[in-house]
Amino acid sequence: MTTLAQFLPQHLQQHAIPAELGSVLATVAAACIDINAKVRLGALSGVLGMAGTGNVQGEDQKKLDVIANDMLIAALQADANVAGLASEEEDTFVAAHPDGGYLVLFDPLDGSSNIDVNISVGTIFSILPKPEGALDTQSFLQKGSAQAGSGYVLYGPQTQLVFTLKHGVFVFTLNEQNEFVLTQENPQVPAATKEFAINMSNRRHWLAPMQQYIDELLAGDTGPRGKNYNMRWVASMVAEIHRILMRGGVFMYPQDTRDLSKPGKLRLMYEANPMSLIMAQAGGAAGNAVQDMLDIQPEGLHQRVAVVMGSAEEVAYVTRLHAQA
Ligand code: AHG
Ligand code: MN
Ligand code: MN
Ligand code: MN
Repeated sequence: MTTLAQFLPQHLQQHAIPAELGSVLATVAAACIDINAKVRLGALSGVLGMAGTGNVQGEDQKKLDVIANDMLIAALQADANVAGLASEEEDTFVAAHPDGGYLVLFDPLDGSSNIDVNISVGTIFSILPKPEGALDTQSFLQKGSAQAGSGYVLYGPQTQLVFTLKHGVFVFTLNEQNEFVLTQENPQVPAATKEFAINMSNRRHWLAPMQQYIDELLAGDTGPRGKNYNMRWVASMVAEIHRILMRGGVFMYPQDTRDLSKPGKLRLMYEANPMSLIMAQAGGAAGNAVQDMLDIQPEGLHQRVAVVMGSAEEVAYVTRLHAQA
């Protein structure tokens, strides 16, 4: 039984990872244990329902979106290693400690449409090194490949922390003493899969290559892919990505012709990049159907992006179909 508190110092030393980065990860993990306590109690902790406010994404906020956001901000502002933070639920970045070496970007509650119906939700986080100089929005606009680490907490049947500091992926499970205990090291996403995840109700709005791809999968073993594919859609990215990390699959949230000014629904900085780093560290792949996700130069904190990630064969196939179109 190795707790996160026991694991981290060893892991940092083994790979010459700065202690400050470990501290930031520990701060996020501790905040998520507190968020977990609220999620677990649901109606009993008064966290369900709408907040009555909106966010910069144009979404109506759930109470738990706001509560989880406030808890993460408070925890990160108390960590001297955090220079600043950015959140799906905040209009602009929030400055913290001028001498801190790291920036933390997060989706405090992912899958918030699921919270009132007691389906898995999560928290997603990305840690970037703070560049030299005064903190501004530009400080945050670093490629996904520049991340020092990333991860998520899944508030599911079990509460699990999954993270990478770019030396493999580690899975911890919250025990009865509210400690994260190491339960899996270096899960690998198989290159081949027979499972996909997409919101099929949007099919008529997708671009032609995405329609073609899904049609090919649905054609089954007599179709061009020669396999019978299964489908899953939880509507919590954290849950889908965790399933794919555990048993393979491909997750997509493509661009949509209803509003071509938006490249996609999901957010590059809070959702796509941190999950892409986990996928890359686990032998999977991630992109926007055109290029590798981790190579995209961000232009805005709340930038949206098309997402295709998971088993490498499928990500490559989707990307090829888009390149041929
Ligand atoms: P969030 O709750 O943080 O706004 O993110 C929700 C995202 C993501 O978790 C999920 O994959 C997707 O929205 C679900 O979208 P649909 O409701 O369109 O299926
Ligand atoms: Mn949201
Ligand atoms: Mn989300
Ligand atoms: Mn969210």
